[in-house]
Amino acid sequence: MDSIHMYGGNFLRGEVKIQGSKNAVLPIMAAALLIKGTCVIKNCPRIADVYLMQNLLQELGCLVTWSENTVTIDASNVIDSAMSGESVSSMRSSVMLLGAMLGRIGEVFMAYPGGCVIGKRPIDLHLSALKEMGVEIMEQEHFFTAKVGRLKAMDYTLPFPSVGATENIILAAVLAEGTTTIRGAAKEPEITALCEFLRAAGADIEGAGEQTVVIKGVKELRETRYTVPGDRIVAGTYLIGALAAGGSIFLEKAPSEHMKALLKPAAQMGGTITINKGGVGIDVIRRLEAIPYLKTEVYDGFPTDLQSPIMAAMAVAHGDSVLEETIFENRFRIVDELRKMGADIRTEKNKAYISGIERLKGAVVEAEELRGGAALVVAGLEAEGETVIKNRHFIERGYEDICRDLRNLGADINIR
Ligand code: UD1
Repeated sequence: MDSIHMYGGNFLRGEVKIQGSKNAVLPIMAAALLIKGTCVIKNCPRIADVYLMQNLLQELGCLVTWSENTVTIDASNVIDSAMSGESVSSMRSSVMLLGAMLGRIGEVFMAYPGGCVIGKRPIDLHLSALKEMGVEIMEQEHFFTAKVGRLKAMDYTLPFPSVGATENIILAAVLAEGTTTIRGAAKEPEITALCEFLRAAGADIEGAGEQTVVIKGVKELRETRYTVPGDRIVAGTYLIGALAAGGSIFLEKAPSEHMKALLKPAAQMGGTITINKGGVGIDVIRRLEAIPYLKTEVYDGFPTDLQSPIMAAMAVAHGDSVLEETIFENRFRIVDELRKMGADIRTEKNKAYISGIERLKGAVVEAEELRGGAALVVAGLEAEGETVIKNRHFIERGYEDICRDLRNLGADINIR
């Protein structure tokens, strides 16, 4: 009951509207905790991770309601500071609630956050930065307690531009006393989105999306409305799907300005890209060419979240490709599954060596995490015969309805 069944070989044709960004909306939902009132968030994707965040906010006392893709969060009353093990340990982004709760009530008791199996993903950078702001952290084996009287501003240099740690510091700093400077901050567009939301609510933030972010603490934030931007990773997955399957598609609301690091290799592989205000189009009429070397990097480099999907396309390109993963240490779990489909890939440390073959063949494969699961769908679009992807629930953490979207583009794909 938890699988995707598909027959590869159809060209993709037509238009699809890209959902709102998961990685933007999750910290924004956490940020709603800082506002003693109601926030309206439009273009919110209806995905499992958003529902998990909703559950956590409700546990803390918020009222959360939906109308189509608009979510309304009323955080007038925050009644609890403890977050249950199960919800927290199933989602990495729950760590965003740490900075927000410290800003709102100065206290949190939470389990260590979980998430995908793509690496160790510790939260040491988050905790060290918060300690600098005066937070006292008491760590136990599976839980920790964080407490602070009034958060104090700091001038802090992150040793690595962690996306989550940058977001957590911003969340803690907006209501802190004084001016906080974050140096070596992550520059991902989702951080800019979080800052846009907070500024609309009255926060004083400069330098969002740059290496140095300056946050002047304000007394309080006000109720606000915000529209979540399109998801660059979902758009990227479908674009790579078109590379693998061939065809001509248009991704409405794809944020082209944030997708440059993908559009360049996609063109190199043989896609003809068109960009206009409404989104991004791609035409693919011939066999793909390999990319001799591509590595994942922090923004604005090639995103680690698209490393597995592009590997699935490289598996059928003409020639040899090398993919290097520099962000997460365990992001090649998909290789064994692609091999079951006939792919010629070997890995050595953090590099994958891919020799393109003419065509993959359908197989029964297992998703083990979100983006690796989506990559198996990309592989299935191209493969000959039936592909069955088990553990669909991993893919549903980040894609509203990948089967509906690809079916609308002409793919033969269904859930079962
Ligand atoms: C976010 C994204 C994820 C994306 C990643 C990198 C969300 C919900 N998730 O994850 O989709 O793949 O950015 O673009 O936005 N690290 C530490 N200690 C820390 C924090 C991070 O060692 O305290 C390490 C991680 O283990 C990882 C690297 O730093 O190896 C990058 O992590 P980070 O940028 O924090 O990613 P996330 O915020 O977890």
